[in-house]
Amino acid sequence: MALRNIVEKGERCLEKRCRSVVNFDERLHTLLDDMGDTLIESGGVGLAAPQVGILRRAVLVLETNVPEGEHEYVIELINPEIIETAGEQKGPEGCLSVPGVFGLVTRPDYVKVRAQDRFGQFFEVEGTGLTARCFCHEIDHLEGRLFVDIAEKILSNEELNSFYAEGDEE
Ligand code: CO
Repeated sequence: MALRNIVEKGERCLEKRCRSVVNFDERLHTLLDDMGDTLIESGGVGLAAPQVGILRRAVLVLETNVPEGEHEYVIELINPEIIETAGEQKGPEGCLSVPGVFGLVTRPDYVKVRAQDRFGQFFEVEGTGLTARCFCHEIDHLEGRLFVDIAEKILSNEELNSFYAEGDEE
């Protein structure tokens, strides 16, 4: 298990457009393994390579919409592209690189992504709710975009609590 340091807002690597992954080699696999360990350790639901200082198009998303009794699992997305969206969700969003801050962000409620796996094989994956939000958030990182750049407003603790008290986002 190897943890990488998660950089925080203000670091230039979070503001840059990342380059495509071209080599699906051991170095990439080590990066993805380390990112996976770092994501699980952090308790977050997604992590993008630039957050560990690597300006390449690779992200992880934790699929949390699993049937009861089944485990959540990490989806590795290399060179991901959103190819379909539907619906809309408006709710609180945060980021491991912007600790303690939550903003109100509107995202599609359904997202389909085309990406490559760690061996370069293309595949498609769909997500709804939090997973759809996470696909968008992580892919934004690859463009150097943070949720605070697009949030309608930053939420106070009270506003944040009221969201969670209401249960599901509207
Ligand atoms: Co983030």
